[in-house]
Amino acid sequence: MTIWKATACAHPNIAFIKYWGNTDDQLRLPVSGSISMNLDGLLTRTTVEFRDDQASDTALLGGKQLDAGAALDRITRHLDYARQLAGTTMRASVNSDSNFPTGAGIASSASAFAALSLAAAAALKLQLSEPQLSAYARLGSGSASRSVPGGFVEWYPAQTHEASFAETFAPVDYWELTDIVAIVSKAHKSTGSTEGHSIAATSPLQSARVATAPERLARCKQAILNRDFETFADVVELDSNVMHSVMMTGNPSLFYWQSTTLALMEAVRDLRRQGIAVCYTIDAGPNIHCICAPGAASKVAEYVAQFPGVLEFKQAGAGRAAYLEQ
Ligand code: DP6
Repeated sequence: MTIWKATACAHPNIAFIKYWGNTDDQLRLPVSGSISMNLDGLLTRTTVEFRDDQASDTALLGGKQLDAGAALDRITRHLDYARQLAGTTMRASVNSDSNFPTGAGIASSASAFAALSLAAAAALKLQLSEPQLSAYARLGSGSASRSVPGGFVEWYPAQTHEASFAETFAPVDYWELTDIVAIVSKAHKSTGSTEGHSIAATSPLQSARVATAPERLARCKQAILNRDFETFADVVELDSNVMHSVMMTGNPSLFYWQSTTLALMEAVRDLRRQGIAVCYTIDAGPNIHCICAPGAASKVAEYVAQFPGVLEFKQAGAGRAAYLEQ
């Protein structure tokens, strides 16, 4: 019996400049570039085992066997790409665990597909460069391209599979930002990102978002490189607001905020006016990412912990690249 096996770990990431909408939904080529930071406290660990005695792929996620259906098909399609490169038809068992709630706006698909891509490529002994691995991860989930490289990362919106990958532009220890993720719901969101991306173009605001995204991206990148929190906070909140405006005004309209989400957004702006260096950003879910400048995290964590409606919080600094477990 032949068994090819590898285990990989990857962090999710939080986008400071968001990905919302594709020019090609199949290849997940984004309409605009995005910027993110990997989150070190949060981790997905995935083992992939290709075996020649198995009839179909199986997946154990968080200890639960995935039934046949769309989620398993997505994994199989993703593994097919690696199988094709390796010239094998061996089926695989996937075993994956995350130490944070999945499907609720903490980009769980990012760490999941980054870890799956790295483990599958290593198990099949594919020699992929980091950009090639990032582009492969992108096929599974767009934001997963950004969980492959470490630290502060930019994902390029190119017209071809090979050119749309993410790359580090500042190393993990460049700026000691902390993400305090305020969890207000652990429920699985009703409309996932994949469907959301295909709806984006129906909003009359999407063309304006896309037209102005490069300027925000350049401003955000420069603010990170300058460690300029004031500029960073302005552009990060703006970009999140612009994306949510698109979500709310599409057809069907997507509304991810809950009352606690909005209350905490206002509170974060108040804290900033009081001199605490923190800003918010929100993905496709109700949870609030409070991004803190160096020195602000403990005060913000204390504040978030007692905020009405917050169930719990997670804390993470900048995280390293996806890696193989030896
Ligand atoms: C709102 O990468 O989860 O978090 O490619 O369909 O898996 P798929 O979408 P996904 O979209 C992430 C959207 C976002 C913004 C971001 O992370 O940039």
